[in-house]
Amino acid sequence: MDRSDKPRVVLGVSGGIAAYKACEVLRRLTESGHDVRVVPTASALRFVGEPTWAALSGHPVATGVWEDVQEVPHVRIGQEADLVVVAPATADILARAAHGLADDLLTNTLLTARCPVVFAPAMHTEMWEHPATVENVATLRRRGAVVVEPAVGRLTGKDTGKGRLPEPGEIFEVCRRVLARGTGGERDLAGRHVVVSAGGTREPLDPVRFLGNRSSGRQGYALARTAVARGARVTLVAANTALPDPAGADVVRVGTAVQLREAVLKAAADADAVVMAAAVADFRPARYAQGKIKKRDGQEPEPVELVRNPDVLAELSSTRPRPGQVVVGFAAETDDVLVNGRAKLARKGCDLLVVNEVGEEKTFGSTENEAVVLGADGSETPVPHGPKEALADTVWDEVAHRLNAG
Ligand code: CTP
Repeated sequence: MDRSDKPRVVLGVSGGIAAYKACEVLRRLTESGHDVRVVPTASALRFVGEPTWAALSGHPVATGVWEDVQEVPHVRIGQEADLVVVAPATADILARAAHGLADDLLTNTLLTARCPVVFAPAMHTEMWEHPATVENVATLRRRGAVVVEPAVGRLTGKDTGKGRLPEPGEIFEVCRRVLARGTGGERDLAGRHVVVSAGGTREPLDPVRFLGNRSSGRQGYALARTAVARGARVTLVAANTALPDPAGADVVRVGTAVQLREAVLKAAADADAVVMAAAVADFRPARYAQGKIKKRDGQEPEPVELVRNPDVLAELSSTRPRPGQVVVGFAAETDDVLVNGRAKLARKGCDLLVVNEVGEEKTFGSTENEAVVLGADGSETPVPHGPKEALADTVWDEVAHRLNAG
């Protein structure tokens, strides 16, 4: 591919210790066929030097507006970009971007760019939670920028908390998805809060055993990632998954159906949409043995008595924690898929039900899916066999349509 055919990405790097992780974001972007121009701030260069960015990107690197002035880089770089991603984005660059300052090459680029813009913030928890930063982030999101939620974990020094830069591979995934939607693919979930449940609950019998299911969580994670790329603030309630946290989503980990209900209802209080992609156990053991259940010679095993779990989807649908909230369910069926799907949609009372056919070899753990999205209004949207992301985007199309109509 000729350089001119490649999608053009501007990688803005601001001055935080996580700047070294941006080298990996850069490497992933260039290796997957993007033409990347790195625009560090002056303080970013104190963490990672100019030769590193130039060598990895194959382009000269400037931070100010006074180099190569005849080429008008302060305007051209932004105008020509297909995507601008700022990683790490410090509290300072978020503030300067939100207020439209233009005191270096990166802020000039942000003002002249008409393409999608992604910020991947990294800072200490106190700075992230400060009302100034909260308002700046809200301003940037309102204008259509994708500001991914920082990850929770070890920060510089001894403290831990929210503020870590998400993993470079995950930031790259956000970029890839935002680019795939293109400039025309508006951030139609910007300013929205969505909740997605994913994975499968485990209902413990004793300290080492549980009743569980084969859900991998991949469909829920695809829903979370695509919602981030469409500009939403995302809460992902993950039940027993072993997948990397999607960049930009607030991940709440749960084990049982009861814990999942609590986490989903809490997050749903101010959510515009809730998508229940998790496989929630309908029953749990009536009793939990504090010690490991032992086999006894010559004795038959004790039967396992089960009790009903709360139905989170039905509860959400009937209570609607926030007026106008769109509630989406998933149904895995083995036969009479459409008939059973319609009946379940009515029974649960949700707005949309994604019905897919499952079997031992189908769907679980796979990266592909095939489904029909049924609407309570009678709509029926088939989604051909394809990546779980494509199904996720169809679900968000339907959700965005209903939110915008409401
Ligand atoms: N669900 C839920 N709470 C439960 C069980 C299921 O919120 N206790 C949600 C799932 O997340 C999914 C939808 O309900 O979105 C469909 O789940 P399913 O188990 O297929 O529905 P059931 O009503 O249990 O139907 P079936 O009789 O086929 O098991």
